[in-house]
Amino acid sequence: MIPALALYGIEKRFGSTRILRGVDLAIQPGERHALIGPNGAGKSTLFNLIAGGARPNAGRIDLFGAEITRLAPAAITRRGLARSFQSTSVFTRLSVFDNLRCAAMLAERDRTRWWQRFSGSPTVDARAAQVLDAVGLTERRHVQAGTLSYAEQRALDLGIALAGGAHTLLLDEPTAGMNRAEAARTIELIRETTAGRTLLMVEHDMDAVFAIADRISVLVQGRIIASGTPAAIRADETVRAAYLGEGFGT
Ligand SMILES: Nc1ncnc2c1ncn2[C@@H]1O[C@H](COP(=O)(O)OP(=O)(O)OP(=O)(O)O)[C@@H](O)[C@H]1O
Ligand SMILES: [Mg+2]
Repeated sequence: MIPALALYGIEKRFGSTRILRGVDLAIQPGERHALIGPNGAGKSTLFNLIAGGARPNAGRIDLFGAEITRLAPAAITRRGLARSFQSTSVFTRLSVFDNLRCAAMLAERDRTRWWQRFSGSPTVDARAAQVLDAVGLTERRHVQAGTLSYAEQRALDLGIALAGGAHTLLLDEPTAGMNRAEAARTIELIRETTAGRTLLMVEHDMDAVFAIADRISVLVQGRIIASGTPAAIRADETVRAAYLGEGFGT
């Protein structure tokens, strides 16, 4: 099978410091993959390279078998990869529903006649309404997005990625800054709404990781030191040694 996302020999240096030292990773379509590792391991750097925010010094990134290594972020988004949970994608002055309509509209752009863009398209509205419900914001539909709570804004952010038709999602620490109840709800929301899509997620909360991931990769000092099922990773002595005190101490 062609992987949804494949990384080959990814290297990234900042000045003379090697941050990523040859990262290889293949994620199958529909897989939920968690990337874990200590602070400063290079996880966010790797996400940034995949999303096109920066370029690797060496290596290649493929999305469903097509190379995206040197594409601009917007071009990568158009190919169905969304990097979510950055509140930057939320238009704070628009209503919750209009945020979702915008995302759905951009996704429909190529399939829609130009005049429908002004009159509103039933497909766009239906899609926005469906996502609104999926992310649990139906009651907040008319509220200005900027007035949502932190957890709600992150749910909207996920909704924007979904309404935009993304088949592959990158989530960098989706539960950061949330209390335990909010974090648990968010993980459940991600699990439900991303069913059938490919997910690559960085997360420090091990309960969340084990609740959602089909496979886990462990990045330490710019290298993947282990990749496998949650059970295999939990039992891996190398991982335990590198990650002591971060939820593996059972
Ligand atoms: N633009 C940059 N210029 C120089 N160094 C950078 C830059 N971005 C990241 N780094 C360095 O690269 C290393 C990896 O950072 P990165 O943010 O990728 O780690 P991380 O695994 O996401 O960590 P965390 O778990 O804390 O989010 C760190 O030492 C960081 O200081
Ligand atoms: Mg990070």
